[in-house]
Amino acid sequence: MNSLIKSPFLLKNNSIFDHWRTHKLHNAPNYLECDPNNLFIDIESACNPSTTEIKKIFESCEKNSYCLYRIKDQSTDTKKNIHTLAKYIGLSRLDGNICADTDKLTSITQSSHIGQHEYIPYSNKRLSWHTDGYYNPPNEQINSMLLHCASPAKEGGMSLLMDHEIAYLLLREENPSYIEGLMQVDAMTIPANILDGKVIREAQTGPVFSINDHGQLHMRYSARKRNIEWKQSASIIEAVEFLEKLFESESPHIIKYTLKASEGLICRNILHRRTAFVDFDENEKNRLLYRGRYFDSILTL
Ligand SMILES: [Fe+2]
Repeated sequence: MNSLIKSPFLLKNNSIFDHWRTHKLHNAPNYLECDPNNLFIDIESACNPSTTEIKKIFESCEKNSYCLYRIKDQSTDTKKNIHTLAKYIGLSRLDGNICADTDKLTSITQSSHIGQHEYIPYSNKRLSWHTDGYYNPPNEQINSMLLHCASPAKEGGMSLLMDHEIAYLLLREENPSYIEGLMQVDAMTIPANILDGKVIREAQTGPVFSINDHGQLHMRYSARKRNIEWKQSASIIEAVEFLEKLFESESPHIIKYTLKASEGLICRNILHRRTAFVDFDENEKNRLLYRGRYFDSILTL
């Protein structure tokens, strides 16, 4: 509760927000100027990361809400060990969505599997800006996400990332009423997911921004027009337009990078999207990423 009272994300906490904002912008990398390769944290062994390596992951997530890592010892780069690595960060409660593998890490690859054919993530098409699990019910919010590249595409499949705290900061700088609107509990509604006439998921209504139990900012968002029904209030509509313009701009806050094999992302469910891609001719070489969606938060060390 104390973390909520002192949260910079509460609109009434102006001085706490100002202090946080200065610090955040001071530490934010300018992605138009820096080489993404310099942002990676090297992990020697995925099954036995060192204390120093884990500390670096926590520090990066605290500063920028995400970290990029690279597994050095290829023999430890297995799906099982990615689970182990996540557990070192405190991530173990996985959301087993309807397309997840039995171990709940989802294989993101081109698929014609029944049940996945309606979903763009399992195609080679571009994915628009979103946070993961934006359609989840209130008691199953996704606080953290892991994306691990087992095999890149022949061409494309680039990830674009933006710290959702920066999106909040820019919106609040532009107009605090945008935040007020996006924090309303009925700001957005995601229509029910109906497949072959059967309701797979009920419609979900909720806020874009909220503050979780640890005082961290949580964001639910999708840029896909047909996925969202926005509350028809001026502040919300303008805020959504502001975000769309931000995503189209050459912002120094957007990182663009194509993950290579043994590289991955661990984050506090930041904003992200993917470009379209082309696979190799041989099926066994298809782009393959493992994704974990966690109810757990990445806490401060
Ligand atoms: Fe995603």
